[in-house]
Amino acid sequence: MSFDPQNGALVLGVVGTGTMGRGIAQIAAVAGIDVLLHDAREGAAGEAVAAVADTFRTLARKGRMSDAAADSAAARLCPVGGLDGLAPCHLVVEAIVEDLEAKRALFAALEAVVSPDCVLATNTSSLSVTAIAAGVDRSDRVAGFHFFNPVPLMKIVEVAPGVLTDPAVTDALVGLGTRMGHAAVETRDTPGFLVNHAGRGYGTEALRVVGEGVADPATVDRVLVQQAGFRMGPFELLDLIGIDVSQSVMESIYGQFFHETRFRPSVLPRQYVAAGLLGRKTGRGFYRYADGKPVVDPEPEVPAAARRPLWVSRRDPTAHMALTERLAAGGAALDHGERPAAGSVCLVTPLGEDATTAALTAGLDPTLTLAVDTLFGLQGRRVLMTTPVTSTEARDAAWAALAADGVPVTVIHDSPGFVSQRVVACIVNIGCDIAQQRIAAPADIDKAVPLGLGYPQGPLAMGDRLGPARVLAVLEALLAQTGDPRYRPSPWLKRRAMLGVSLSTPEA
Ligand SMILES: NC(=O)c1ccc[n+]([C@@H]2O[C@H](COP(=O)([O-])OP(=O)(O)OC[C@H]3O[C@@H](n4cnc5c(N)ncnc54)[C@H](O)[C@@H]3O)[C@@H](O)[C@H]2O)c1
Repeated sequence: MSFDPQNGALVLGVVGTGTMGRGIAQIAAVAGIDVLLHDAREGAAGEAVAAVADTFRTLARKGRMSDAAADSAAARLCPVGGLDGLAPCHLVVEAIVEDLEAKRALFAALEAVVSPDCVLATNTSSLSVTAIAAGVDRSDRVAGFHFFNPVPLMKIVEVAPGVLTDPAVTDALVGLGTRMGHAAVETRDTPGFLVNHAGRGYGTEALRVVGEGVADPATVDRVLVQQAGFRMGPFELLDLIGIDVSQSVMESIYGQFFHETRFRPSVLPRQYVAAGLLGRKTGRGFYRYADGKPVVDPEPEVPAAARRPLWVSRRDPTAHMALTERLAAGGAALDHGERPAAGSVCLVTPLGEDATTAALTAGLDPTLTLAVDTLFGLQGRRVLMTTPVTSTEARDAAWAALAADGVPVTVIHDSPGFVSQRVVACIVNIGCDIAQQRIAAPADIDKAVPLGLGYPQGPLAMGDRLGPARVLAVLEALLAQTGDPRYRPSPWLKRRAMLGVSLSTPEA
């Protein structure tokens, strides 16, 4: 069973020649594979061939491929009018409508046409590969081959064997994905496979932060981009994807995991959807858009506050040193006492705790205390958190001192784990769960996530950079403060933090 992915005369069938089918046909033809295209709508396969050939011509005009390569790639594409035209295929990839019965019916019909060894692959994003395979006689020839949109630019494909898939089929698809110029990662047939599962932490936790009134969407976006290093803020991303599309993915994955609290969606996006505010495509979502660009209110000015002595907690010696050095460099008046002098503004540097808890456990006056997030360094943006009773004078003195060297400062309301600590800890924790559940190998998790989601690093590398023990501390404090099991640490994280080893350490 299966095919040789390096076969020079490989024939690939693509059924469904919409957005995804065209992209798959394009990269296959460039890799020297003959492609037969079929679509249920008459004329659609021919239109797809013409469109992809046009893309090749454009790429050649821009010097991104030679004229000869463009011509030979275009010559590899051939529309077929009926399914029986797919008889010569070594494998067929379907990219038809996302409907279980339609995909089952297609594969059953294909079985009557193709050779007994022909592999049947599905590009489904949200259906079970095993359930699709259950509709055919030879379930061992069916596997998931999940590309991302736009296929030529998103250089990642997930290979998802179903329960009964022949391992040779999985290996052949990994080889083929690689030949097509993509990173091919193997993932178990579970909801969201690897990438869409790993992507649950970002938007979901950011929505929770906004839902708790900690900060508004634009503030959360600024913090995650400038402090934690993400390329795009979660709310900008929700608006770009479409709040309706994002909400239905969030609800679908939550349902498929039987209401696992880690993935519990927020009620906020539903209101936007009900109001018809779907994001960029409707001109308004979490942001308003003018000329296709989000209109963002200016940030509040740094207050011109009277200088007050600042006392920094020594509970975390590394954080103490980093913060006092920064403040001294900015010309702040520091209170170096073991305990704060009367009237000194107190800065605490908690992991996973809110400012109130950190102030009270240290026996500090909560009206004079603020918390600073030091976990991500103090370079891109600094985040300051008030208790519900912090005085305006204390807040403004701390704000002005922290902003003295020109690095922007964001002030948020009290929240366990600030913004970045919460969101990044959730991403790391979900990545660890994916490893723990053997959905994908640690190296594949960290390879797929930056390519599929555009994160600066994979979740395991992110956790290693911050320190597994620190991420664990954030989650344990979040769990203790909220009582919400969504924050319970993954056993994968907990064990590696206790052992002091990398989160990429596989089981021996
Ligand atoms: N668009 C994405 O971002 C994306 C990403 C990854 C995976 N997917 C998955 O890829 C598949 C296709 O998505 P798309 O966005 O390309 O859809 P699309 O609507 O752009 O194209 C689907 C095509 O399939 C054809 N079709 C429908 N039923 C058919 C049938 N029974 N037989 C033959 N042709 C049929 C339609 O005529 C249409 O041309 C879906 O399973 C989707 O979940 C989509």
